Amino acid sequence: MVQDTTTGAPAPTRNFFARKSVDEILAENHLEDGGNFARALGPFSLTALGIGGIIGAGIFVLTGTVAAKFAGPGVVFSFALAGLACAFVALCYSELAALIPVAGSAYTYTYATLGEIFAWIIGWDLVLEYGLGAATVAVGWAGYFNRVLHGLGIDLPPEWTTAYFADPSHAGAAAGHGVFNLPAALVVLALSLLLARGTHESSRFNNFIVFVKLAVVLIVIFFGVSYIDQAHWTPFVPENTGEFGHFGWSGVLRGASVVFFSYIGFDAVSTAAQEAKLPQRDVPIGIIGSLAICTILFVGVAAVATGVVSYTTLNVPDPIAVAMDATGAGWMAWIVKIGALAGLTTVILALLFGQTRVFYSMAHDGMLPSVFARLHPVYKTPAISQVVVGALVAIAAGLFPIEILDEMVSIGTLSAFALVCGAVLYLRRKNPELHRPFRAPGIPWVPICGIFSCLALMGALPIETWIRLFVWMAAGLALYYFYGSLRTRRR
Ligand code: ALA
Repeated sequence: MVQDTTTGAPAPTRNFFARKSVDEILAENHLEDGGNFARALGPFSLTALGIGGIIGAGIFVLTGTVAAKFAGPGVVFSFALAGLACAFVALCYSELAALIPVAGSAYTYTYATLGEIFAWIIGWDLVLEYGLGAATVAVGWAGYFNRVLHGLGIDLPPEWTTAYFADPSHAGAAAGHGVFNLPAALVVLALSLLLARGTHESSRFNNFIVFVKLAVVLIVIFFGVSYIDQAHWTPFVPENTGEFGHFGWSGVLRGASVVFFSYIGFDAVSTAAQEAKLPQRDVPIGIIGSLAICTILFVGVAAVATGVVSYTTLNVPDPIAVAMDATGAGWMAWIVKIGALAGLTTVILALLFGQTRVFYSMAHDGMLPSVFARLHPVYKTPAISQVVVGALVAIAAGLFPIEILDEMVSIGTLSAFALVCGAVLYLRRKNPELHRPFRAPGIPWVPICGIFSCLALMGALPIETWIRLFVWMAAGLALYYFYGSLRTRRR
């Protein structure tokens, strides 16, 4: 061992490519008792957690943006394509989550395959998906909340409903400078406290709200279907304007990269593996079940919205409410607003939940301060971590506008998804003997298709988003070099 010549103490060593074996991970996490987490979640709650994490700002906002700007009614195909890409990834997630049912999810799967530095990169990436994702959706939530209050004749001071970094020229921004988006920050704090209080309580709340939003989405589909005017669907894929991504099939592709955001959340089920009663069986049910249900619903809502009104009218913050208004039933717009608020609430909940579980695993490995791995003695939740994460996410939600946040969330998530597919391929080769309670079909093609679909969707995102991703990664790697790599328990 290298000695520090001044103190005689061993000099710090780093091993960027150290790996943990699957057996080691399972032993470390005391899987028979969840590592002291409470095992509160069955297949129903896990599927509800997935649906809770999926249906949110994407379907209620982005459907309209994509239809109006990129794909017309072809947004239906965009949803189907993005859903297919996620299906490949979901099968890979299910295999790994059943094999390594720990809270760290993709972070831990990568530790077992590609090694420590890649695990860190994924953990850092997941902050974009979960932490920044929660902030993004909280901002969308606040937008709907303000509109509901406005409908009731209450208007909050605009500087306290507008992000500090919001572009003042944007519709809905404060006339002067925004100070802080208070409703967005407060909803994050309230949900963090609920999560700190207990997984069982949060799950019961989640199941109820998921029921409400599913009901709203089904009402939109079944009520709206009789108002569809075929003329709005002709042509179904409007002709390309001559520019890539503006209508035509390239527009459908571009649309798929944007509506991908709508599907984010199914993977949060895998972070609940240590709180599942029978993780090997129920986590794959939760992941695949929630994704399948949501894909069908998204295609249905997109078809109805573009069939009821012309797609050209849908570039608004509340396109589904606009489509329902056009049916002449004023009460429907209210139902949609309530559904959207409910929908967004559970997405924030699922993402905040996921973030602290990933941090739990990282801290458990020594890559983050140990406070993130501490469970509350009574509630059995990472309560302190939940509050710290909640405070940081609340600050981000208060300061940044949605348009800066959402593409960062997508690119971070897609890179994590691609690595998860790679991890399945790697482990099948390296450890074919491991008992896999769930096996992804069509190996190697399913993970390969997953990797290529994620890369294709990432390729369709703008260059500024790529630059932000590199800056984020550089900051993460510096942190790893000076902290994580020196403190990791593998040393
Ligand atoms: N899928 C989540 C949403 O659309 C992130 O809000």
